[in-house]
Amino acid sequence: MHQVLVIAASQQKASQSRKVADYINHQVENLGANASVLDLGKTVLPLWSGEPAPDKSLINTIRDQLNHATSFVFVVPEWNGMAPPAIKNLLTWFGADQFAHKPVLLCAVSAGQGGAFVISELRGSSYKNCRICYLPEHLIIRSVGNVLEGVSPMGKSDNYYRNRIDFVLKDLLDYDLALSTIRPHALERMEDFPNGMS
Ligand SMILES: Cc1cc2nc3c(=O)[nH]c(=O)nc-3n(C[C@H](O)[C@H](O)[C@H](O)COP(=O)(O)O)c2cc1C
Repeated sequence: MHQVLVIAASQQKASQSRKVADYINHQVENLGANASVLDLGKTVLPLWSGEPAPDKSLINTIRDQLNHATSFVFVVPEWNGMAPPAIKNLLTWFGADQFAHKPVLLCAVSAGQGGAFVISELRGSSYKNCRICYLPEHLIIRSVGNVLEGVSPMGKSDNYYRNRIDFVLKDLLDYDLALSTIRPHALERMEDFPNGMS
């Protein structure tokens, strides 16, 4: 059974990324799959330092959530033309055991017309060792304050985003199913080459 974990990667306690994550979570459930949200603005991981975590139970809870997920949506705001530290920190705390050969839909969020930097940054540099599989499709939710607010679309662009989200979530669920057949073999082979090539 699909278990989609939607990760809201803003560090703000109340964020537009969380709004988008909640909307996506709801749409995944509408498609008949299980989904839940992990909000990195509320479930705050300490910055990885190599030292033991002050709160081990928090790390274990997040690890269990990631292990349990069969696919992910990363909802990531663009901050100063970058992905915020919270998503990089998550990808430093956890790795191939949680992410390898699982599909991920990238969803960038911008209050304005940004978002593309987040997509290229994560596609460019975050998958080498954890072997996460980004879908070829992605989302960029621009002018996020004006969309995905209520049950009905507020206009043409809101309607476009809602249709686009449903379209790409169907891809995600198909990849989820397909990669579940590949993952056990791929994980076994990884023992010979635990790190990707630089
Ligand atoms: C520190 C900071 C830097 C930001 N830099 C950008 C940016 O480079 N590009 C952009 O489109 N929006 C930028 N924004 C605005 C975000 O798009 C906006 O806060 C949006 O709501 C997504 O962030 P949130 O999920 O934290 O709410 C920035 C916001 C913050 C807090």
